[in-house]
Amino acid sequence: MRRKIVAGNWKMHGSIAANRQLLLDVLAGLGDVSCDVVVCPPFPYLAQVAELLQSSRVMLGAQHVSEFAVGAYTGEVSAAMLAEFGCRYVLVGHSERRSLYGDDDARVAAKFRALVDSALIPVLCVGETLVQRERGETEAVVSRQLEAVLDQVGVDAFASGVVAYEPVWAIGTGLTATPEQAQRVHAAMRALLAERDAGLGAGMRILYGGSVKAQNAAELFGQPDIDGGLIGGASLQSTDFLAICRAAN
Ligand code: PGA
Repeated sequence: MRRKIVAGNWKMHGSIAANRQLLLDVLAGLGDVSCDVVVCPPFPYLAQVAELLQSSRVMLGAQHVSEFAVGAYTGEVSAAMLAEFGCRYVLVGHSERRSLYGDDDARVAAKFRALVDSALIPVLCVGETLVQRERGETEAVVSRQLEAVLDQVGVDAFASGVVAYEPVWAIGTGLTATPEQAQRVHAAMRALLAERDAGLGAGMRILYGGSVKAQNAAELFGQPDIDGGLIGGASLQSTDFLAICRAAN
């Protein structure tokens, strides 16, 4: 049985006061939530959020990491630094990083490796654009994105990560993949991983992301190959985020 995860990607949102209120509300409502819960605040708030989450079952995540271990990389943050602040999960290959900051497949693979080397859990985001979907390239695109990492880090390292399927056209747009559309891609990705290694395919947790809301979460998470969600906008409202967590029960 793969344990479901709901991870909140706060993106560049939040403030000391807002984070505190959001987390106090989330922690107060967690009683009937049984999935793994992760929140990924912006870097400056890692220490604040780590403290608020102390002795709770919500895990800390980060949105980004450098592929390098140490050195003259202005503005970057290493995997070891994230580990020191108590992070467990770290996003890599989010479409906003790929499209706005030039994170290509090779760099995404290097970041994945850096995270595994620091005993952090990479959340590898993959997904097609609308044009790619309309051209019928969805499976080719996500396969390329998965294989770029798998080929570079190997089956064993890959198995310590999590995958998130996030169709680019669904992120922040209010357009959600239908449960059937998402399930088809998740099943194809699991089959690709199983071709490399049966255990990798069976055990990999594959999250769906892209306009997940309280209203559509249960149907998405009810699909056989969808193991939870990566939640952007709806993770900023405690009632919405908690409802999505409950949908993963
Ligand atoms: P969204 O973002 O839920 O706001 O669409 C998802 C994501 O980018 O991870």
